[in-house]
Parts: sequence; C-alpha cells; structure tokens
Amino acid sequence: MTTTVKTVRDLAVKKERREKITMLTAHDAAFGALVEQAGVDLILVGDSLGMVALGYDSTVPVTMAEMIHHAKAVRRGVKQTLLVGDLPFLSYQVEAREAIRNAGRFLKEAGCAAVKMEGGAEIAPILAAVVRAGIPVIGHIGLTPQTAGQLGGFKVQGRDAESAAKLAHDAQALASAGACALVLECVPALLARRISAELSIPTIGIGAGPHCDGQVLVTHDLLGLFTRFVPKFAKQYASLAGEAGAALAAFRREVEKGTFPAAEHSFGPLDE
Ligand code: KIV
Repeated sequence: MTTTVKTVRDLAVKKERREKITMLTAHDAAFGALVEQAGVDLILVGDSLGMVALGYDSTVPVTMAEMIHHAKAVRRGVKQTLLVGDLPFLSYQVEAREAIRNAGRFLKEAGCAAVKMEGGAEIAPILAAVVRAGIPVIGHIGLTPQTAGQLGGFKVQGRDAESAAKLAHDAQALASAGACALVLECVPALLARRISAELSIPTIGIGAGPHCDGQVLVTHDLLGLFTRFVPKFAKQYASLAGEAGAALAAFRREVEKGTFPAAEHSFGPLDE
C-alpha cells in the first residue's frame, strides 16, 4: 500500500518510506481531472502554463491574475488531489508581505494546499515568512525558468564544484526556512542524489535523474502536446499533437467533401 498524500506532511512520510512522489502540471479543469484520475500525489498549476497555454516565449510575463484564473479552473476539475500554485515572477521577490498576500490568494481563492517559489538562499527569509503565515511552500532550485537569463539560458546547473556547492547550500537554506519539499530542475543526477540524501524534506526532480524522492513533468511535454521545443528530460509518453492535428484536418476534409455530418450525427431524416 502506498501512502495517500492528504496533506503536505504526507510528503515527508513518503520520503521516509522510500515511496516515490509524483507531481504533474495542469492548467484547466479537463486536465486537472485527467491528472487526478492518473493518481498522482500533487497537481502543480505551474507558471509553465504561460508557455504551453498562453503562448508567451517564457514564464516571465505570467501574472498573478492569470495564475489564479487557471488555478481556480483546475480546482473545479479536481476533487481531492493536493493543488500547488506556482508564484509567478515578481509576485514574491520584492517583499515578504506581498509574498504572503499573493501566496495566500492561491489558498483562499483557488483552494490550493501549497505554493511553489523559485530561488535559492536569497529568498529563504521570504519563504520563511510565508511559512510562518501558515502557507506550505515548495522551493525550486537548479534551473529556475523565471531567471533563466541570469543563469545563462536553459542550461543544466551545478556542473562545476562551485555551483554544485551553492546548490547544496541553497537546498539547506530553503529546508531550514521551512520548505516542505524542493523541486530540483536540471541538476546532474549525482548532485541531486547528494542533496536528496542530505535533506529531510523530499526532493522532486525534473531533469535531475532517478535518485530524487519524486518526479515532476509538465503534462503537455509528457503527452507530446507542446512541440515548440522538447527538453531532453521530458519523456514523451504519447504524441498527441500529431493525433490532434490529424483529427482536425480530417474534420475539415469531411466537411468539404460533404461526408460530415452523416445521418448518425443528425436529427430526423436527411431527405424528404
Ligand atoms: O511551471 C512549472 O510547470 C514548473 C515545473 C517545471 C516544475 O515549475
């Protein structure tokens, strides 16, 4: 029997029992329901929705209003799986009171159980203030897409000794600040193993190898629905963009030929 994650505290229980944690993204009610049916532990309303749903080139332009709109939609499709709201760029970095207000909106308006914020030791005081306000927080280090420009682009982080030591330090700082879990994005597998072993809170990897306490993927990547670029770490379990494109083109052809709608899609006789 695997542990059912009913509250964020169950994440630590899963780590203790060496049961892997699963998290996937959703940004609307339909995908929220599908992800819940798959039985994952956590559903992340990630700011990646800015790229896969809103057509932005990065996650930087995503606003709190957009995140709350999508988190509420996911909430309507999800019955019991814990939702995590992703704090968008500049909704939490400026000062703790603003971070608490914005994090609180995910809980009060969208029924989220926790929020996620990107950043290392530099955001630990803000993360601690949000936790003190009673809001569970998942940290996110390694490749942090909101500040990818500063990191030299969408690159693996922690490859040399100095940046590996910084990541290990960041992980400790966030855990000490009260984070309930930590996303490790694009980190070498052995560094992720070391960080996972050193922390009592669980790590959830994306492009961080198999030794993390759990794994997260962007659902659109997993389903092959987002084809603008496919990161190396994103295993495509399906190629739905191709199937969707073929279905849409078949509709157009059939309407043009007059074979759709047929009798079974119509009401009453087709001819007098
Ligand atoms: O926004 C997102 O979907 C994320 C995941 C990549 C962890 O932050």
